[in-house]
Amino acid sequence: MQLQEHFNLKDLNTFGIEAKAKYFAEIREKKDLRDLISSGILTSESWLILGEGSNILFRGDYDGLILKTRLSGMTTEKCSEDQILVTAAAGESWHGLVMRCMDHNWGGIENLALIPGTVGAAPVQNIGAYGRELSEVLEYVDVIDLETGDEDRLDQKVCAFGYRDSLFKQPKGKKFFISSVTLRLTTKNHLINTSYGAISTVLMGQGVEQPTLQDVGRAVISIRKEKLPDPQKIGNAGSFFKNPVVDAALIESIQNQYSTLPFYKTENQQFKIPAAWLIETAGWKGKRLGNTGVHEKQALVLVNYGGATGEEILNLSQQIMDDVKTKFGVQLQREVQIAEGKSPK
Ligand code: EPU
Repeated sequence: MQLQEHFNLKDLNTFGIEAKAKYFAEIREKKDLRDLISSGILTSESWLILGEGSNILFRGDYDGLILKTRLSGMTTEKCSEDQILVTAAAGESWHGLVMRCMDHNWGGIENLALIPGTVGAAPVQNIGAYGRELSEVLEYVDVIDLETGDEDRLDQKVCAFGYRDSLFKQPKGKKFFISSVTLRLTTKNHLINTSYGAISTVLMGQGVEQPTLQDVGRAVISIRKEKLPDPQKIGNAGSFFKNPVVDAALIESIQNQYSTLPFYKTENQQFKIPAAWLIETAGWKGKRLGNTGVHEKQALVLVNYGGATGEEILNLSQQIMDDVKTKFGVQLQREVQIAEGKSPK
């Protein structure tokens, strides 16, 4: 394994931000990590694990070591008459895995098609879309403790999943390098989920009444292609903000002014509001500010029209957060991870 210096990260983040890392290492096998641990660099430098860079904003140069996960491979184990355990290494493409599972007729992740990023990044933010979250099918995550080099297997409960949240975002979980992810998928009697509005509309439009998991996957792909900008063409990191969860009193006070407010009931008498609605209603959808802007088809997505700095995108996000707070009394939170160049430990 080679440690590179002043490494250009532009092609390794989907925002396409120009940023350099002080040090950069590609992890192709577990031994690469053990070598780094014994070299002491993980205690002397800040470090950051990078997948496909599709949920990160580099604020500037990264003053530390970037660990780029390149672990590859996939194995399976039949676990019952109608279920299979599928293990994929952290460096595999998430969408590639979804496509392979769809080809084999293994069900459970077809609603999560076309989400950019690696397999290893998927549990970190508990990826979710179109009525399904990764946590619903995740069996366990294999990790390497970057402090000790020890390997461990963390089952679903230990991963403490929440909405775009997990153990791996908490201070005590930051020391884990995810090496592989194991999913429990169905081989028959699939739990087809078309509950999320747009899916059933697309399927109905195609005259599909009894959708297969492949039908659902294809519908999700077409919806995402229609709404979300392709990072290859225009820099972005998907949803920049989380959908805020608020209480009934706040819903009522917003409704007094905006009777069309959409919201969904969650647990403990709380309500989730689409951040995209707040941003759009505040007048930001399609707005451009220098090299940055709010996507014209999905107000949750901030874009780099070319040449934007991380700081510019962060400023735009702050302006949106301040405006939404003033207009609706709702505090938005960023979903995208901001890389400051400081220790993530
Ligand atoms: N809406 C607007 N304006 C817009 C877009 C949406 O008002 O420009 C409102 C509409 O009321 C719409 C509602 O928001 O009905 C929901 O929109 P959408 O189905 O597009 O989903 P979202 O809540 O904006 C979330 C995820 C996406 C995921 C979709 C589909 C978060 C932060 N985002 O977006 O995830 O693909 O649902 O399940 O939860 C991502 O995390 O990067 C991501 C793209």
